[in-house]
Amino acid sequence: MISKETIEQVLMRNDIETLIGSYISLKRAGSNLKGLCPFHSEKTPSFTVYPQDNSFYCFGCGVGGDAISFIRKKENLDYPDAVEFLANRAGITIVRDERADQRRGEPKFDRAKMFKMNVDAAKYFNKCLFSDNPDAKAALAYFTDKRGLSVATIKHFGLGYAPNSFDAFSKYMLARGYTYEELVAGFLCGKSDKGRYYDAFRNRIMFPIIDVSGNVIAFGGRVMDDSKPKYKNSSDTPVFKKSRNLFALNFARHTCSESMILCEGYMDVIAMHAAGFENAVATLGTAITSEQARLMSRYTKKVIISYDADEAGQKAAMRAIKLLSEVGLDVTILKVPGAKDPDEYIKNYGADKFRALLIESKTKFDYNLENILSKYDINVSQQKIKALHESEKLISETYSSAERDIYIQTISKIFDVDSKSIKSDVDRIISRAAFVRKKEEAQKVKQDAIGYSDRVNPDFVKAPAVAKNEEALLGLLLLYPEHRKKVFEEQLVSDDDFFTELNRRVFDYLREAYFEREDSHTDMNEFFSADETGRITRMKLSRMGLTENGNAVLLDSITTLKNSVRKKKAEKNSSLEGLEKLLIDKRKS
Ligand code: GTP
Ligand code: MN
Repeated sequence: MISKETIEQVLMRNDIETLIGSYISLKRAGSNLKGLCPFHSEKTPSFTVYPQDNSFYCFGCGVGGDAISFIRKKENLDYPDAVEFLANRAGITIVRDERADQRRGEPKFDRAKMFKMNVDAAKYFNKCLFSDNPDAKAALAYFTDKRGLSVATIKHFGLGYAPNSFDAFSKYMLARGYTYEELVAGFLCGKSDKGRYYDAFRNRIMFPIIDVSGNVIAFGGRVMDDSKPKYKNSSDTPVFKKSRNLFALNFARHTCSESMILCEGYMDVIAMHAAGFENAVATLGTAITSEQARLMSRYTKKVIISYDADEAGQKAAMRAIKLLSEVGLDVTILKVPGAKDPDEYIKNYGADKFRALLIESKTKFDYNLENILSKYDINVSQQKIKALHESEKLISETYSSAERDIYIQTISKIFDVDSKSIKSDVDRIISRAAFVRKKEEAQKVKQDAIGYSDRVNPDFVKAPAVAKNEEALLGLLLLYPEHRKKVFEEQLVSDDDFFTELNRRVFDYLREAYFEREDSHTDMNEFFSADETGRITRMKLSRMGLTENGNAVLLDSITTLKNSVRKKKAEKNSSLEGLEKLLIDKRKS
């Protein structure tokens, strides 16, 4: 478990206003701040940050909580990882043991030893590549002849070869003092159902993944023929998270302050570096994540996406644009004409031609406009109308109106249509979309109000009045230490006074925190899901808005709750009695 002191420190050092402000733009509204919710799409801000309370809440989608809840949701991290993320951000070191305890059942590994194990493995694979046996020679020839890499490039990237054997590698590593447990944890060995260990990488060319501190953290291994799977990549290990690292960032970080090139494959990156484009990186066999986008934004201002030419690659590029723009990076997309990927393009046409492509790489608008224009023949009026309409829709998705004006001028020339009519079309599309969105939002608010489709507290619908009374009381307990003291010390309320399961859990949690940890709810993220912390925040906020929250209000809210629960239970019993009677009557007849 992470200690209360650590969590308090992490929360204190991560000012919620600055934290959330680094993700979305916030505008002051009284003592609070408002912005567009990063968790659902909206055009009018319902996402609110409460600096005094160190919390946030979105009235549109119900997400809320403290800084840890925000990071859990935004970075898609589990609770301990979110705490660690924020600790790193604030320069706090979390004691490893605290962190390791959190991973139930997972044996603890010495990180320094894991790093050393990976370095030893990389050295082993590299030595194998340059050894004398025929397999190794074939592997080296694959790199040099088939893929056109120089020996200097191979050495620069520390590439290697994993021999075609089930145990050559592990025998070597065991002799150097590593255990099977460590090798399995590091994804270097596997364990069969029968309990036999085997080398994870066999007869593959090897790409070590190195982090910005120079640690070897993982490997990718590729077959040299058409067999499947083409690549085997390390899964997450105690020292590696693939969603948080980038291939070749250890090199790229020195030359990428102006721009970075993002590729799909290791081979693309290696070809680019060899051709002099040393600012290229790649994800590690998965689509780009928001963590990787943020990592890039720490090193560069602009990203040029250079994915494969096929449809999958181009789709992935659109997704990447979204994530990269969200963290404030300028993004362009590069197309490689006449080649399946950048690696092949450089090999066929050379570095100078590739440099020209880099300069011509297109913004999202230009890139999509080009796609539209290549799809239609604008000399045919029906097709011209379709192309114009798609272009107008594309422009309507641009947030800045100045930018929209520039695009309107552009397509006005292309289609030879008056820019005023285009502008009125675009405006109409925008207002229609806003109307639809507003309607959807209103619908949702209405549904929430009647507790319909409440996924967070499914019991709400069964007894909305009771659930509201529960929330009113919990709000008071969440807000005021003196109310917690009174209710818990004098045992004014018990579990039985709650009807809905979620609210009962919140009550139990607060009582336990009070007696066992002398805490309010700083560790709520450990016990509740991200959706649930949103609900808890809402309970608190609805109370914060009220001026009268004193002792009389507390006692009144307890009485109201008890009465409503009693009534509800009586209702339930009488309907049960009715049912029983009905059954007995049936049996009689
Ligand atoms: P070449 O075919 O040698 O040019 O490889 P590449 O590096 O260009 O790979 P490709 O564009 O086919 O795929 C991009 C990335 O996706 C690779 O670098 C791998 O990380 C990953 N990848 C590709 N195929 C597989 C696979 O079969 N399994 C896994 N786990 N990852 C793969
Ligand atoms: Mn490729």
